Amino acid sequence: MKIYSRILRYVVSYKKYLLVSILLSIVFSVLSGISIYLTIPLLKTLFLNNGSGSVPVTDENFIRHSMQYFETFIFSGGKGKALMIICVLIIVAYMLKNITGFYQALFMQKVEKGVVRDVRLAMYEKVNMLSLRYFTSERSGNLISRMTNDVNAIQAGISATFLNLLREPLLIMIYLVLAISLSWKMTLIALIVFPFTVLVIVKIGSSLRRRSMKMQIKTGDIISIITESIYGAKVIRAFNAQKFLHKLFRKESDELYFLTLQNVKASELAQPITEFLTIVAGVMIIWFGGREILISNTMQPEEFLGFLFIIFQLVVPIKNLGSVNNRIQEASASAERLFDVLDHPIEIRDPETGINLNSFNESIEIENVNFEYEKNKPVLVNLNLTIKKSELIALVGPSGSGKSTFADLIARFYDVTSGQIKIDGNNIRSIKLDSIRKLIGIVQQETILFNDTIRNNIIFGLEDVTEERLHEVCKSANAYDFIMETANKFDTIIGERGLKLSGGQRQRISIARTLLRNPQILILDEATSSLDNESEKIVQDALNKLMQNRTSIVIAHRLSTIKDADKIIVLDNGKIEISGTHDQLMNSGDNIYRKLYNMQFK
Ligand SMILES: Nc1ncnc2c1ncn2[C@@H]1O[C@H](COP(=O)(O)OP(=O)(O)O)[C@@H](O)[C@H]1O
Ligand SMILES: [Mg+2]
Repeated sequence: MKIYSRILRYVVSYKKYLLVSILLSIVFSVLSGISIYLTIPLLKTLFLNNGSGSVPVTDENFIRHSMQYFETFIFSGGKGKALMIICVLIIVAYMLKNITGFYQALFMQKVEKGVVRDVRLAMYEKVNMLSLRYFTSERSGNLISRMTNDVNAIQAGISATFLNLLREPLLIMIYLVLAISLSWKMTLIALIVFPFTVLVIVKIGSSLRRRSMKMQIKTGDIISIITESIYGAKVIRAFNAQKFLHKLFRKESDELYFLTLQNVKASELAQPITEFLTIVAGVMIIWFGGREILISNTMQPEEFLGFLFIIFQLVVPIKNLGSVNNRIQEASASAERLFDVLDHPIEIRDPETGINLNSFNESIEIENVNFEYEKNKPVLVNLNLTIKKSELIALVGPSGSGKSTFADLIARFYDVTSGQIKIDGNNIRSIKLDSIRKLIGIVQQETILFNDTIRNNIIFGLEDVTEERLHEVCKSANAYDFIMETANKFDTIIGERGLKLSGGQRQRISIARTLLRNPQILILDEATSSLDNESEKIVQDALNKLMQNRTSIVIAHRLSTIKDADKIIVLDNGKIEISGTHDQLMNSGDNIYRKLYNMQFK
């Protein structure tokens, strides 16, 4: 319930619409009562055989009292006129009722859809703040399913709460009052049978919650496979893995199918059971009431028929009320999964009164840094290193030795497990995140581009970028010529993840993007490793221009590119194995760097 009331807090900003909708639903309920009650005088006109049906006003019951006045009025002009008045009144009542119903639904939708939009927005903003760790530990499909299915599922709970939970009891009350005014004895029977019906419905509904939870998780798994198959289209074909994946997908689909069927069974059962129980109740009432008319003659036939109409009208609100519980349960199940994401702790906290570091002047210090992704699995062990301004530092070592992790720590994608990293003497945890990210530029092995124009991929959110500046950085990044050769130049859309470009072209776009930001510290993480010789030369040339007048940390696969580094750090198993300049390392006996170097050049 706590979860559910949290969802309702999103409704607050739509309280105006909500209020209108609630008012309209009250009007709607009253009009429904009037519409149905009008059938009694209608029946009376049809049954009557004398000219005037006016009855002496004797009843003490308020509703019957006013009804009798009303009847006296319509029957004053004779039977034919009475029929016409009643028909017109019925048409008007139903018309007003349905118009109110329409606007009431419209305003409720404004609330529901608005909440859906707001929750989805909150989710998206949260996703962009989550630690990178989250994405490696959760399946992407899970997140996608939460942002689509679950966000949509909460809206059913909103109308259930504010519409059905209000309108249905009101309708039931109105119908009951009308029924009591006709026969309290028969109403009593209805009152005994109907709550029992509702109880059965609620029981069925309570099992829905668990099932819908399982269903959502399964849906997430399926979306994960689909997204991976889209991203991995080439690999799947290259390795002939279609059969394997089809089998996997079929298994997941079958499981979802059975879960859904179970779920459907529960929810579909609710309806026939309600209807059957209502009919049983109705028949019991007819039986009782029939005897009342036939034997004791205490009720007019038209009143008895009117009573039956009203009692059967009760089915609709009771049925709706029965499903309210299901809908609220399902909505809370979804809400739970949404809040699970929204409440996920933000690992990398932006310090509230953080330092705004606008320039890098002295050094980056890495002091006794240890890091682990998972508890007790150290990835980096007791690192100590000082990187001075304008230096070129190279990180080498076997794959899996922790080079990328080290770079991620400097950009504060992760926080160190122990020790500290300082920029110009400030612990990076006390520096504003966006000022760290502004200082540091990163070019990775795999460039992620978005399905947008070349221009937007390079500018990527920067403001006030002049066309000259854009062309200038593209020229430095050796990207200008190929961009000009594309169909729409800077406005060419590059396809999802930039797949319409070659690896080298993507890399040069990425370099242009970094150049445009003019970061003082540069991290190149195997930026040329996935390229062929030809494009590697062009990209390396662009990188060299990028590195000019900057402090650079270069992770390189090919040792020839880092021979001139001020310091080469050799990482192995998360530890600094040895460090020094190329010459120092080559001349200090048998070491891992010399081995790696000789392997590449002999
Ligand atoms: N997100 C992650 N979660 C858990 N372990 C990881 C994660 N990323 C990398 N690792 C592990 O950390 C170690 C270092 O990885 P990485 O820094 O990428 O190495 P390198 O860049 O030197 O090849 C590897 O053993 C790798 O399996
Ligand atoms: Mg790496």
